[in-house]
Amino acid sequence: MATERTFSILKPDATKRNLTGAVNAVIEKAGLRIVGQRRIQMSQAQAEKFYEIHKERPFFGELVTFMTSGPVVVQVLEGENAVAKYREVMGATNPAQAAEGTIRKTFSESVGENTVHGSDSADNAKMEIAQFFQDSDIVG
Ligand code: CMP
Repeated sequence: MATERTFSILKPDATKRNLTGAVNAVIEKAGLRIVGQRRIQMSQAQAEKFYEIHKERPFFGELVTFMTSGPVVVQVLEGENAVAKYREVMGATNPAQAAEGTIRKTFSESVGENTVHGSDSADNAKMEIAQFFQDSDIVG
């Protein structure tokens, strides 16, 4: 398996609780390299675009409100099999179902405020990275 990139967001519940370093430590311990990273305030338009696929879901409004409620850290992670690897490191979407040692099991309080986002496929990773990063801001 070749080196791959995935897109990550440390969500407002992470920045609010000062957990960005703690979450990054889990990411790096798993062997993923943080090759791009920026702290931003997501606008409503950016959040709506990013989560467009969920726009018919009942939690869409809540999701956009949460993602714009405070700073987030957008990241590009690189490593062998990075997309699948990061999903394993994050744990299940619902922290109640996440495995021991995963980011969501360790840090998350609810399915809505679940600390991290990670791409679900290599194609989506490319699109998500392109929404928030220029090539020159990613240094591998
Ligand atoms: P994420 O991986 O960022 O992608 C979509 C997000 O929707 C997901 O993480 C959750 O934070 C959120 N989500 C999924 N299900 C629910 C739900 N039932 N209620 C609120 N938010 C949800």
